[in-house]
Parts: sequence; structure tokens; C-alpha cells
Amino acid sequence: MSRIAYVNGRYVPHSEASVHIEDRGYQFADGVYEVVLVHRGKLVDEIPHLDRLDRSLSELQIDAPMPRAPLRQVMREMVRRNRISDGIVYIQATRGVARRDHPFPKNTRPALVMTSRRLAMPDRAKAEEGVAALTIPDIRWARCDIKAVALLPNVLGKQQAREAGAYEAWQVDDEGYVTEGTSTNTWIVTPDGELVTRQIGEQILSGITRATLIDLAAKQGVTFVERRFTVAEALGAREAFVTSATSFVTPITKINDTVIGNGRAGSVAMGILDSYLDYAADAGAS
Ligand code: PDD
Repeated sequence: MSRIAYVNGRYVPHSEASVHIEDRGYQFADGVYEVVLVHRGKLVDEIPHLDRLDRSLSELQIDAPMPRAPLRQVMREMVRRNRISDGIVYIQATRGVARRDHPFPKNTRPALVMTSRRLAMPDRAKAEEGVAALTIPDIRWARCDIKAVALLPNVLGKQQAREAGAYEAWQVDDEGYVTEGTSTNTWIVTPDGELVTRQIGEQILSGITRATLIDLAAKQGVTFVERRFTVAEALGAREAFVTSATSFVTPITKINDTVIGNGRAGSVAMGILDSYLDYAADAGAS
């Protein structure tokens, strides 16, 4: 079965899908995106993802390429046509095609593309083993709350992690506080058992998975606080993990050369992963 992409109103074979060379997403990274998890054929946290897409678009003064109701239909059609049970839908909207010139073009229609692909749900036994992270300076811009396609620093950071045999790079601000991963939000559990993640602000993306997990942690009675934490605090943490629509809850058992906790995934991370999997299979899917 061939993969299908959606490009500006048309469903086309993925191998033939293309946009114009003067799309401003290509030339200026002048666009935004979303990655929505699909589990058992249903979209997880669809509405918060679309709310965040609207917000990103409005921060960049890009008109919505399509009203929400048909957009939701296209997302479902992508899941159906690509026969996705577990996977993702990727949505990208840019300011559109115009002669290369820095100011916003007039009368240009925003462009919309969508792809969908399979992604395996996490394997619990593998998650227990954990993965490594390294810390790197956060060299991104001052509006990381906008889910812009301008991801070059993130790409460089992730590559650095992979070359060091690590799963993720934890970006660190000028004051020594962890901001977030290159494509994930970052969390620790302190030696006192307090779950900590950085507060929302312009330095990080307001993760949809993050928000869902905060609710789920509260239901489990986990003590939780939103505040920034330093690299030193992370190295001394009992647990560490990262979250996103594609990383779910991924325990981190080593940061740089330091083993976190006992070197295995902790009970808070695994408890939250379990409740997230239940949530994705049920309440959060539509
Ligand atoms: N990334 N922080 C950054 C910088 C991200 O790129 C992402 C998501 C997150 C987590 O957000 P959410 O829980 O809504 O997925 C945090 C997506 C998955 C990506 O770029 O592929």
C-alpha cells in the first residue's frame, strides 16, 4: 500500500508530494507544525493540539489555512487512507508561496500539508531500561513557545546527542537551568519525591503531553511543582524523564556521565507512562 500525503487540498502519493521552491516555509522557516499521536486509529489530544496550532499561527500572524471542522476531517482521512492504527499525523502550515522578500507578502494563501506514518507504542520492558541524555547550551531564539518549523538548533542538538550515544539533549539556559529537550519536555523527581518540570513561558514549548501528564500525575496523588531546575539538581535527581507525543514518557537513566537514581526507570515515570497509555487508549482519543 502506498503512503498518501495531503498537499493544499489534494491527496497525493507521498513519493510525489511536493511544494513550491518559493514556499516561505522552505525559504524562511516561516511556518508552524503539530505532531498528533494516533492510537488504535484515534487521535490523542486532538483538540489541545489544534488549539496550540491556532495559537502558533496567530503569534506569527498567519491565517488559518482551513477552518477547524474540515481540518479535522482531513486528519481523519489521512489516518484512514494510510491505514494507521498506531502512528502520528504531522500537520504543517506556512505563510505560503511568494517571491522571496522578507516582509509578509500580501494576498498569499497559507499552505497546508499533512503526512501520516506508523509509530509503535512504547515497549514497557524497554522503557524500564531507560536511555541517556546529555546537556547542551540552549542556543534557540526567544520564542520557543511557538511551534515553528525553524528547528535547526534542535536538529543540531539532537544530532550531537545521537553522536554521543544519547537519546536526547537537554538544553540549558544562560543561568544553568534546563529549558527542555530538543523535541521533548524534561522532568525530574527530586530525592524527596517531588515531580518537577519547568513552568510554561517563552523559553519552552507548552507540550500537550506535558499538560495531560500533569493531570494524570495529580490523579495519582504525585506531589508536583512547576519550576525551573538546574543541571546539578537533575544530576542528583531520583528520576528523570522526557515527554512528547512521539516519546510518550521516556525514562532517562544517565545524564552526561552521571547515572540517575539506581540506573533503572523509576516508579513515578513508569506509573505516569502506564496511566498515559490507558489515557491514550480511552479518554484522550477521539
Ligand atoms: N516535538 N518541546 C519541543 C521543543 C518539542 O518539539 C516537542 C514536541 C515537545 C513536546 O510537545 P508535545 O507533548 O506536544 O509533543 C516539547 C514533536 C513531537 C516533534 O517535533 O516531532
